[in-house]
Amino acid sequence: MKKIIAVDGPAGAGKSTVSKIVAAKLGYTYIDTGAMYRAVGFECNAQCVMRNAQLTEDFINEITRDIDIKLDAEGKVFVNGEEVTKKIRTPEVSKLASDVSKFDFVRKKLTDLQRKMAAQGKVIMDGRDIGTVVLPDADLKIFLTASIEERARRRFDELSAKGQAVELSAIEKEIAARDKQDSERKIAPLKKADDAILLDTTNLSVEEVVNKILDLAR
Ligand code: DC
Repeated sequence: MKKIIAVDGPAGAGKSTVSKIVAAKLGYTYIDTGAMYRAVGFECNAQCVMRNAQLTEDFINEITRDIDIKLDAEGKVFVNGEEVTKKIRTPEVSKLASDVSKFDFVRKKLTDLQRKMAAQGKVIMDGRDIGTVVLPDADLKIFLTASIEERARRRFDELSAKGQAVELSAIEKEIAARDKQDSERKIAPLKKADDAILLDTTNLSVEEVVNKILDLAR
C-alpha cells in the first residue's frame, strides 16, 4: 500500500528538519521540493550571468525546458549533472527560488517530477503545495508553522552554524517577503489544505514535533 505524507508550511517552520527525521524513523524516502525550486533558480541565474543575459520569463522558460534535477538518497542535489547542494542554501537563492516558482511552466515541470518521485510510496515530501496540488490524496497532511520571529531565529542559527555572515533582522524581512510572495501567487500558492493538520511549532522542540507526526502517521 502507498503511504504518503505531505508537509507544507512557510519558510523556516522546520519542515525539512523534522521530515528528514520522520523519514529515517519510518524507513521512508524524504523529498525536499524546495531544493528543486532552488535548483531551478540557481541554474537560471548561473546561466544568465554566464551568457550576460536578462533573467526574463522567456529565459527562465528556456532553461527550465531541458533542466535535469536529481536528488540522491543522501540529500545531495544535482542540476544538469553539477552538485549544488551547498550552493543553493543562500538567501540569494531562496529569493530566486521563490521568484521562479510563480511561473506555470516551472511548477508543471517540478510537479510532474515530484509525482513520479512519490509514485513508489513510502514517501514524505515537503514544500508549499504538496497537500493542495502535488499529492492531494496523501494519507497524512501536515501544515507546519511557527511565529515569524521564531522562524527567523531558526534560519539565523542554521546559517550562522554554516559560517555565513547574516543579520537576524535581514532574515526576518527576507522570510516575510518570501512568505507573502509564495502565499499570494496565482498558481499553487502556499496554503493549508482543508484536510491538513495544523502544527504550530513555535514552542515545540524538534523531538516533540517529530513525535507528534509519528503518532499521527501510526
Ligand atoms: O522550502 P524552501 O525554503 O527551500 O523553498 C524555496 C522556495 O521554493 C519557496 O520560497 C517557494 C518555492 N517552493 C514552492 O513554490 N513550492 C514548493 N513545493 C516548494 C518550494
